[in-house]
Amino acid sequence: MKIETLRGMKDIVFSDIKKYEYIVKVAKEVFEKYGYERIITPIVEETELFKRSVGDETDVVSKEMYTFLDKGNRSITLRPEGTAGIVRSYLNNGLYKSNPNVKWYYYGSMYRYEAPQKGRYREFHQIGIESLGIRSAFLDAEIIKMGTEFLRRLGITDLTVEINSLGNTNSRKRYIEDLQKTLLENIENLSYDSKIRAEKNPLRVLDSKDEKDKEVIKKVSSLHEYFDEESKNYFNDLKTYLEKLNVKYVVNDKLVRGLDYYSDTVFEIKSNKLGAQSTVLAGGRYDKLTSILANVDSFGVGFAAGIERIMLLLDEDKLPLDDKKVYVVYQNETKDYFLKVINSLLENDIKLIYEYEVKSFSAQMKKANKIGASHVIILGIDEKNENLITLKDFVSGSQEKIDIDTVIERLKNV
Ligand code: HAM
Repeated sequence: MKIETLRGMKDIVFSDIKKYEYIVKVAKEVFEKYGYERIITPIVEETELFKRSVGDETDVVSKEMYTFLDKGNRSITLRPEGTAGIVRSYLNNGLYKSNPNVKWYYYGSMYRYEAPQKGRYREFHQIGIESLGIRSAFLDAEIIKMGTEFLRRLGITDLTVEINSLGNTNSRKRYIEDLQKTLLENIENLSYDSKIRAEKNPLRVLDSKDEKDKEVIKKVSSLHEYFDEESKNYFNDLKTYLEKLNVKYVVNDKLVRGLDYYSDTVFEIKSNKLGAQSTVLAGGRYDKLTSILANVDSFGVGFAAGIERIMLLLDEDKLPLDDKKVYVVYQNETKDYFLKVINSLLENDIKLIYEYEVKSFSAQMKKANKIGASHVIILGIDEKNENLITLKDFVSGSQEKIDIDTVIERLKNV
């Protein structure tokens, strides 16, 4: 019986893997320019890490985690996101003492047991950055700029940058108390999910898409009205820096994000071409996370983008063409000569395509056409006897019989 991939999981092959590799390549170029270095953390972590950081009452932790007992009876979880593991690593390595500012980027698979739909999978891939150890509205603006630059370089347009501030813990606490009061007074008019959230995680009701909820939300005041001076100034600074860095944004005061660790800055970059799962890249500041995890006072800000969502937006025509394809034609009588020639070409890092079983000359030429070869190397009996190579350039239409060193020189400079 054929075995399928699990629901919500898929292989990334053919043109999709080309897109994936290209996305990673562009991300590296952009992130490294801003001083970020790669980090790889484990895919599986102690369950407690995500409960404490992402938050027990969030959908991610309460409904969507792939949690198992290992053979030692420990509860372990396939990471639903990357931030928690990275902050754990920052703390474990004592970097907050020796090297407080660390800038890391990462990419890899994440797991959430969600209902699959376009742009939403159970195994998906994120590419993201985390900057630890610095609290600065300039840094927040800079990473938002970096996120837009990354997507723009991939040729993705029609994006909206939504920003908001959740204020600091004090102002948010007062707001949540009042918000909860209003929500509980209107509980009958809330959707099923929001009734539960009103009790457990009232802020999340603010970004509900449900029409009934939206009516109730109209009655609640804005979180911004509860900001103390510090929260107000921080958000104003963020907006000023974004303007100075030429980043266009809209303020959405209902943007709260689905993970509990945020404070002050939050943001999402959205595309109107993705349907319901419109957020391509999202993140924010999480200054309390190090103290929640290890009683250490430090700071952090970052974002992650969904690689599959970027792949849906990436125009195949925008992928850089693999414009050098060299196909080698040979025959039974010249097999030894063929082996000698390909050996030296490969040793000189020339990428080649050839057959493992000799086919007729015309079948090989047909294949060269089919794969869109830019060059054909012909190794017939004449070539073997003269110790030369016929190089056909399909782009210029030229054909010449030359020695191997000249072939290497020509192909290296294409
Ligand atoms: P998040 O909003 O949960 O944030 O996920 C970030 C991005 O990952 C989303 O905007 C989306 O593009 C993609 N994504 C999330 N879930 C799925 C899914 N089931 N299928 C496909 N793509 C998905 C975080 O994960 C935070 N760790 C971001 C962050 C980093 N905040 C600070 N630093």
